[in-house]
Amino acid sequence: IDELLAEGVKGKRVFVRADLNVPFAKGTTTITDDGRIRAVQPTIAKLAEAGARVVVASHLGRPKGTGVEPEFSLAPAAARLGELLGADVAFATDTVGSSAKETVAALTDGQVAVIENLRFNAGETSKDDAERGAFADQLAELADVYVGDGFGAVHRKHASVFDLPARLPHVAGYLIATEVGVLKKLTDEVERPYVVVLGGAKVSDKLAVIDQLLGKADRILIGGGMAYTFLHAQGHEVGISLLQKDQVDVVKEYMKRAEDTGVELVLPVDVLVSSDFPDLKTKAPADFETVAADAIPETKEGLDIGPKTRELYASKIADAKTVFWNGPVGVFEHPDYAGGTTAIAQALVDSSAFTVVGGGDSAAAVRILGFDENAFGHISTGGGASLEYLEGKTLPGLAALEG
Ligand code: 3PG
Repeated sequence: IDELLAEGVKGKRVFVRADLNVPFAKGTTTITDDGRIRAVQPTIAKLAEAGARVVVASHLGRPKGTGVEPEFSLAPAAARLGELLGADVAFATDTVGSSAKETVAALTDGQVAVIENLRFNAGETSKDDAERGAFADQLAELADVYVGDGFGAVHRKHASVFDLPARLPHVAGYLIATEVGVLKKLTDEVERPYVVVLGGAKVSDKLAVIDQLLGKADRILIGGGMAYTFLHAQGHEVGISLLQKDQVDVVKEYMKRAEDTGVELVLPVDVLVSSDFPDLKTKAPADFETVAADAIPETKEGLDIGPKTRELYASKIADAKTVFWNGPVGVFEHPDYAGGTTAIAQALVDSSAFTVVGGGDSAAAVRILGFDENAFGHISTGGGASLEYLEGKTLPGLAALEG
């Protein structure tokens, strides 16, 4: 992007593909974590300062692709971007229709506009090259230059991520450059001990990265919903906890490989369990108890790692030189089940390691739980994107920027 700025962008329409996919408080338009908006702000601000007419585009959530669905509107994100920039940000109520065309045509030098959620148009996510291409053709009419800076979406082969850069002169923005720089450190030149903390709900989403990490990490600490599939694979009953039965055999094989290769795979020793999933809206006090991980009652589900596990995991993190953390280890959105995720975040803050928090949920968690983001080495804006990078996959959005 510095080269583009040096060439001069005054009066040029610059399309910035951002990832403004931010979380909202349940059922409202209140943004609970604006980290992704703040992360792309330097790119947008620099372009505006240089006199570009900046057209910002993003997806939000997973709408059906059949037109506007108000709960997935980017309007609140556009308003927040305006507050951060301290400038009026124009908003187009469609993606490539008359509102977008008029809004972009009305931009003056240095002004910023946001167009509506790209996924309101089926062409954005289509598996059909021609359908995606047709949408990309329409998007290309809105701009002269493309800046890719939506790191959180670079693993998606979507029209605005993959097809559009092929139609316009293109460069990477500051956020993508920073993110890739950090993840390179974890793959090419990692300092040991290298400890990985994996949480989140779905084992199946993380299998490929566990596979890769078995050859690279020194310790893998497992938490969150996926831990119960591991505990089950170890031969324990897990009550009504989240369990991916179809993954048990794969997990068993990983546990065996970890043992053979000397990778320490660490599972919870105690968990908080309850018969009910907590109410995340009212946050009413939960009725829970702490049990050993091998004694989960038949009628209860695990919702957070217990105090002994928190201590154990903190001790496994304490002497690390590098830590990568993806996925909350409990239902942190409820105060009674936030203790585990808080303990992991605190262990990262307390360690002298280079710490990377990857994943929309864990990144949001550390901020929502009140941690200072500067206390971490890097907080990635990419969940799936950072995992797929670590898996060594070719990411469509990065490949397109290189081409
Ligand atoms: C994310 O939240 O990981 C990115 O914004 C990508 O969203 P997606 O998983 O809906 O493609």
